[in-house]
Amino acid sequence: MHYSLTFIQLLAAGSAFAAPHSSSALSQRQSNISSLNDEFVASGKLYWGTAADAGTLSETQNAAIIKSDFGQLTPENSMKWDATEPTQGTFTFDGADTLVDFATQNGKLLRGHTLVWHSQLPSWVEAITDPETLTSVIQNHVTELAGRYKGKIYAWDVVNEIFDEDGTLRESVFSNVLGEEFVSIAFKAAKEADPDAKLYINDYNLDSASYAKLTGLVSKVKEWRAAGIPIDGIGSQTHLGSAWPASDATEARAALAEAADEVAITELDIAGAAPQDYVDVANACLALEKCVGITSWGVSDKDSWRDDETPLLFDAEFQPKEAYVALLEAI
Ligand code: G3I
Repeated sequence: MHYSLTFIQLLAAGSAFAAPHSSSALSQRQSNISSLNDEFVASGKLYWGTAADAGTLSETQNAAIIKSDFGQLTPENSMKWDATEPTQGTFTFDGADTLVDFATQNGKLLRGHTLVWHSQLPSWVEAITDPETLTSVIQNHVTELAGRYKGKIYAWDVVNEIFDEDGTLRESVFSNVLGEEFVSIAFKAAKEADPDAKLYINDYNLDSASYAKLTGLVSKVKEWRAAGIPIDGIGSQTHLGSAWPASDATEARAALAEAADEVAITELDIAGAAPQDYVDVANACLALEKCVGITSWGVSDKDSWRDDETPLLFDAEFQPKEAYVALLEAI
């Protein structure tokens, strides 16, 4: 493997994870090293993936790590509304196609991200005030985007970040013009466009079981599913730091699983990347049958949206960090 020397160096340096010390034990370890995704799949999960896009895929080291270590890709930005329909009715899929083609050629699962989100939303959508117009604009956007990749996407984040911290619906053009009806409109259009894809509601700060945003979302998802809205799964972004400790991860994911058929950790990064925090999150998914997989929100700290917090599994030089080694040991 491209990182095996570094792994041995970490062991030889007396890392906390270095159980075997003899050279034969080390070579035994080396021959047992598998990729993060392989280990997670062997433990019964569908994937350990990462966010990527044309820019990061063009970095040779980044692409090599994705090929060897990750089993699933999420477009970090290229499927968002501003990237795919910047002006009404004119669709641009170049960036999204690059990501989808890379995934297809390299046998990676895909999560689609995201169909309806208040952010990275073009101003022409924000300006709509008529409910009928906004309904058909949502339906058209979802139909074009989800329809283009029909059969290629394991799961779509159909709606993203639609709750406030107090568990009520977030104010946005969607909720202001259509009330909560936009949720039904988006999910039903997605179901029609790509009937076999799993359809998710995705949000952040779902990292403590008793937090109002989590309990509000869980109760709404139960209500919406009972009313026939085709919601399959709940995505927990899982951007962790001191406000959201990884130690609460197991209980929080279990609370989400009460409301849906499956749960995924969709955008994992952890400020400081402490090994035990990563292991806690991996264990939270492993402990929950409905948890299908984990997606890291990027490969290297160099390309992270939180680069100053060094939250990912590979450092800015693309070397695996202690958290990465701890995960291979723990899974
Ligand atoms: O594409 C433009 C480029 O043309 C321009 O020259 C450049 C100058 O700043 O900006 C580029 O856009 C950037 C875009 O990423 C694409 O690279 C934006 O400035 C930048 O704000 C944007 O950040 C993304 C952010 O979402 C936007 O909200 C991050 O990369 C992306 O990691 C982040 O991802 C979100 C998830 O989708 C939802 N959950 C939270 C997560 C973190 O914010």
